[in-house]
Amino acid sequence: MGTLILALAGAGFSATLAQAAEEKVLNLYSARHYQTDEKLYENFTKQTGIKINRIEAKEDELLERIKNEGANSPADVFLTVDAARLAVAHELGLFAPVKSKLLESRIPANLRTDDWFSFSTRARVIVYNKAAVKAADVQNYEDLADPKLKGKFCSRSGSHPYNLSLMSAIIAHQGEAKAEQWARGLVANFARAPKGGDTDQIKAVAAGECGVTISNTYYVARIMRSDKPEDKKTMEAVGVIWPNQKSYGTHINVSGGGMLKTAPHKEAAVKFLEYLASDDAQRYFADGNNEWPVVAGLKFANPALDSLGKFKADALPVGSLAMYRTKAQVVFDRAGFR
Ligand SMILES: [Fe+2]
Repeated sequence: MGTLILALAGAGFSATLAQAAEEKVLNLYSARHYQTDEKLYENFTKQTGIKINRIEAKEDELLERIKNEGANSPADVFLTVDAARLAVAHELGLFAPVKSKLLESRIPANLRTDDWFSFSTRARVIVYNKAAVKAADVQNYEDLADPKLKGKFCSRSGSHPYNLSLMSAIIAHQGEAKAEQWARGLVANFARAPKGGDTDQIKAVAAGECGVTISNTYYVARIMRSDKPEDKKTMEAVGVIWPNQKSYGTHINVSGGGMLKTAPHKEAAVKFLEYLASDDAQRYFADGNNEWPVVAGLKFANPALDSLGKFKADALPVGSLAMYRTKAQVVFDRAGFR
């Protein structure tokens, strides 16, 4: 009997220790690839005293790693970019549901699910060479497939998540048959085979190698904020269009994350997710990486985002983009958009 009481007392003691440890550390697996995030994390530690152990790797590598670590994974929170990737983590059953009044009140319903949350948005815009292409001809994603633009369209790969998520939205709005027709039109208009990232396409458009491309807004804003003479020249040569303002709105994608089911520090994990929706953190997304906060009405100081102006965003719930992801890849493959 005496031994049992001792054992129980011992268990209680170590539980208290575990709780104390829980307060102080957060293991963050992050696929966000932006240097400016450093301050975002430092600020959390300053506010809460919770130290962040950060593991950064490529999106798909991190997912693999969490999967392989299984029940023993030290990961508390997984942060990544692109809705479809977040949905993959959900489908693999990696996330734990998080009930937080704060997250529910701060993040609009179309930008969250039961177990993952968006913390910033980026739009996929049309960037065109002002000397080679008329703005009136590139007002919609659909316009990019018009034979008028033969030999003028450049893009990164069709299997990149940014393009897969855009294609998912097109399928959701237009249906698979029309989406495939669109992809075939894009391929017929290629100035060159897909290569490079969004920034490479913008530069090729400015140089006249291509007439038009699609890009995430933060790449455009990054060039806009640069002091380098070649970047200034790039921005002088190109125009930026919010696509589909008269129909379903410009496609937006997100960066976001969730708490892992196996998280050893669940309390710290929820605190961190709530922190990412705080005014301070939201401003880091806007000012540091040129993304839009998800919290409505938040004031921020980013002249590049301001000069891009206001736009109508596609209201499609981000969770549903994932539904069409496999189809999106099949459609791009069939159309020869590699
Ligand atoms: Fe990116």
